[in-house]
Amino acid sequence: MNKTDLAAIANAMVAEGKGILAADESTSTIKKRLASIDVESTEESRRAYRDLLFTTEGAEEFISGVILYDETLRQKAGDGTPFPALLNSRGIIPGIKPDKGAKPMAGFPGEKVTEGLDGLRERLQEYYDLGARFGKWRAVITIGDNIPTRTCLAANAHALARYAALCQEVGLVPIVEPEVLMDGAHTLERCEEVTTATLNLVFAALVEHGIFLEGAILKPNMVISGKECPKQAGPKEIAEATVRCFRRSVPAAIPGIVFLSGGQSPEEATENLNAMNALGEQFPWELSFSYGRALQEPVLKVWKGKPANVPAAQKAYYHRAKLNGAARYGTYTREMEQAG
Ligand code: 13P
Repeated sequence: MNKTDLAAIANAMVAEGKGILAADESTSTIKKRLASIDVESTEESRRAYRDLLFTTEGAEEFISGVILYDETLRQKAGDGTPFPALLNSRGIIPGIKPDKGAKPMAGFPGEKVTEGLDGLRERLQEYYDLGARFGKWRAVITIGDNIPTRTCLAANAHALARYAALCQEVGLVPIVEPEVLMDGAHTLERCEEVTTATLNLVFAALVEHGIFLEGAILKPNMVISGKECPKQAGPKEIAEATVRCFRRSVPAAIPGIVFLSGGQSPEEATENLNAMNALGEQFPWELSFSYGRALQEPVLKVWKGKPANVPAAQKAYYHRAKLNGAARYGTYTREMEQAG
């Protein structure tokens, strides 16, 4: 493990005014996204869509890194340049999702544990050789009656720590993603309680496994009301609860916290991140974004799979990235939505 290199990559991933694009949808997830715009999912349509994103002029002003899926890491842009080399040439760091998805946890109805540790060392080495410089592993925590259990939290924390150790061994910065889902009618307070318990176990496991925290990034959910909760907290309340939760559970050694959007609308995801950075407080870590749906939804809607729509779709991506870049400084306003 080269700690200097790991820390340098981690810091570059959360550089000022920039965040990460999550474009690492598995083949089954991207199929659903493409189906939403009536586009058939083929290797070529998936490639064309990622090509659109990665060749967007100026995206590097607001995007520090892109998370890729196995297939995408091996694909090429229209001019034959492999995607990792294309991203690198623009100053964007390529990353990889090496997990094999969250599967039902035996003996724990309603709960999931993420698989993919078998053979991970060899796969990570190959990803490094293909140009990836960071990884992402997503654990899913569901809030419901009597769940999550401590057993589920501990099993996921253990897997995250083993993945993180293997990443750092080959020179990849691990993005550690414990996602407490927003599905359900739970309150913001319950989300804060579960997120705190999750993070406490995740960091205990990371420390126990000897993870170099200065070379790791946390990708969590925001502390937010459940989607079906009758009382929906606003941006200020979300920002205060989220920051309080992370101050209590995330070591200052972590360079950055990059939030997932998790089903929030693009505008909500931007507004909530902005509200945190607008609190006027000093944080020990950067507060940034690693959005999938919240960055891509507007792009898909404009693109619709038609080559003629590529310039307009790229404009939509650039605009969304720019707004999230502003949220990194707490300077985003709803009026800026119109400007693009
Ligand atoms: P969303 O922003 O769509 O939640 O995706 C982020 C991600 O990478 C989930 O693993």
